[in-house]
Amino acid sequence: MRILVIGSGGREHAIAQKIFDSPKHPDVYCAPGNAGTAQVAENIPIKSTDIPALLEFAKRKKIDLTIAGPEQPLTDGIVDEFQTAGLRIFGPNKKAAQLEADKDFAKKLMVEAGIPTAQSRTFTRYDHAMDYIATRDTPQVVKVAGLAAGKGVFVCDDPADALLAAERILVKNEFGPPGNTILVEEKLVGQEISIHAITDGQSVHILESSRDHKRAFDNDVGPNTGGMGAYSPFTPTLHTGSVADFYTNMETHILLPILDTLRRHEIEYKGVLYLGLMITAGGPQVLEFNCRFGDPEAQVLFPRMKTDFIDVANACIDGRLDRIEIESDPRPAVCVVMASGGYPGHYEINKPITGIEDAESEDDVTVYHAGTTTNGDRLVTHGGRVLGVTAIGDELESAQKSAYTAASKINFEGAHYRKDIAHQTMRTENP
Ligand code: AMP
Ligand code: GLY
Repeated sequence: MRILVIGSGGREHAIAQKIFDSPKHPDVYCAPGNAGTAQVAENIPIKSTDIPALLEFAKRKKIDLTIAGPEQPLTDGIVDEFQTAGLRIFGPNKKAAQLEADKDFAKKLMVEAGIPTAQSRTFTRYDHAMDYIATRDTPQVVKVAGLAAGKGVFVCDDPADALLAAERILVKNEFGPPGNTILVEEKLVGQEISIHAITDGQSVHILESSRDHKRAFDNDVGPNTGGMGAYSPFTPTLHTGSVADFYTNMETHILLPILDTLRRHEIEYKGVLYLGLMITAGGPQVLEFNCRFGDPEAQVLFPRMKTDFIDVANACIDGRLDRIEIESDPRPAVCVVMASGGYPGHYEINKPITGIEDAESEDDVTVYHAGTTTNGDRLVTHGGRVLGVTAIGDELESAQKSAYTAASKINFEGAHYRKDIAHQTMRTENP
């Protein structure tokens, strides 16, 4: 069995590792991969956005199953191209992936499905956005409608900030074509949680809960990043009802209605459906949909997943997800992201990395690679987020302690990481 994983981040290392660990012992390929995926897969030097070259490779190698990690190839239609060529691929097709790629489309669909979400208006003209912002007397969030690598959302506390954001997107064109349209929506207040579900378009499996830490520095200060760490499970603090009811409601009031509404538009959604939720005093509201696994969330979800992911992906493709269980290790996982000095702003690459073997000698620690490569026989940095140090422990505290002990053994010039990953939950639970 031959399996191709597309992408080069920590998420893709976690996916490739999970597939490599399958009792089916497949041959794993990763395009383009990183120095970590090279340990569990053969790296293929094709960019994750070069769909024709990926297709040619998959046909030539007779790949049995392809898993696309990042959103860009999915929203560019890699699933449609592979399916047309008769190849099996896990993920939503181009139309379905618009749920992430077009926030205006997603918002309209949520309203049609009756899904709780922030009240919002869409604009293509700055003067119209300006008039609307002037009428708002609560804080607003200004969003690039298209894909912006997590950088296109401005949470604004006053109208002046909102105007500035709208100007940067619509007038100064800082985001290019994805920023031709913006959403101006009410700012929601509450606790954020990520929910990952796998769906074959009909039935839905909600995976273990997880939480990301988006800000660059401790105590949630500094600029937004792709994610500086994650932990799983994360039990939300609910205003009413039990956690079990929360998940049932998630399925009946959000996931199934969005799938039904998509179907009404003749769109079948298969793959990962990842919801960003805000738990407000009035109940959960959807912030966004993503069409793939979160990164670093994947780096805590995959090490906990006990079921063979090849079986999950195949069941999803074949529309028989209702016939399998997805089991998880009950023990919590914590992932600490180690980043290059300066990330998410300017950073240098090519810094030698040491200490990974030592870090992995800790019990239940896996070091996932993101921005790494080899230079001669040296492992060096090659991106902003460099490594994800994940530990599993009997308790969240012990997982956290192991992740930090392991991270402290790894060195590269300029390395920085947050020291408070998973702290918030522990503070809430153990005041
Ligand atoms: P999104 O890409 O839409 O999830 O937005 C990125 C981040 O911006 C979210 O994870 C939230 O922290 C924040 N955000 C987005 N929309 C809102 C909103 N309506 N109210 C408050 N925060 C938001
Ligand atoms: N960690 C956030 C994301 O992957 O979108």
